[in-house]
Amino acid sequence: MLQAAVLTVSDRSFRGERPDEGGPLVAGILKEAGYAVVKTAIVPDEQGQIESALRELADSGQVQLLVTTGGTGFAPRDVTPEATLAVCQRMAPGIPEAMRYASMQVTSRAMLSRAQAGIRGGTLIVNLPGSPKAARENLEAVLPALAHGLEMLSGRPADCARLP
Ligand code: MTE
Repeated sequence: MLQAAVLTVSDRSFRGERPDEGGPLVAGILKEAGYAVVKTAIVPDEQGQIESALRELADSGQVQLLVTTGGTGFAPRDVTPEATLAVCQRMAPGIPEAMRYASMQVTSRAMLSRAQAGIRGGTLIVNLPGSPKAARENLEAVLPALAHGLEMLSGRPADCARLP
């Protein structure tokens, strides 16, 4: 079974001022898709703390997929994409391209998400926006294709001709 972690990036949820809706929602979608969600965490919108959490979760060797929610917009403290760029060794731009393409059918504000996706070691990191609605719409757009990528990332021979 593929193992996943969910990192919520939110000043208000970190301080306990707002319940974290996005993290549990994302975890629920991943579980429905057959992932074991083995770790969840909340960090504030501080690049250093986001980077540390991403490194710790990815380098634990326990998760193949690490999904973040929050901090992808234009607000001055939205720095999740920068933290993701800083910790990834290889980027996977097709994933956020697909998320924004699908999301543009829902709202033109989809273009305002600066979400990134990339690989650190054996872990794929995928950013999602923060609102539960946006997080769901973005994740559902790419989730069906991710397992194949994770199979390739694991080094197991993956047959690209096999559908889906
Ligand atoms: N994508 C989808 N599918 N649905 C949405 O409602 N909201 C957008 C965008 N992507 C949205 C979406 C908005 S309004 C913003 S500001 C950005 O995601 C960034 O969100 P974040 O700052 O919460 O990460």
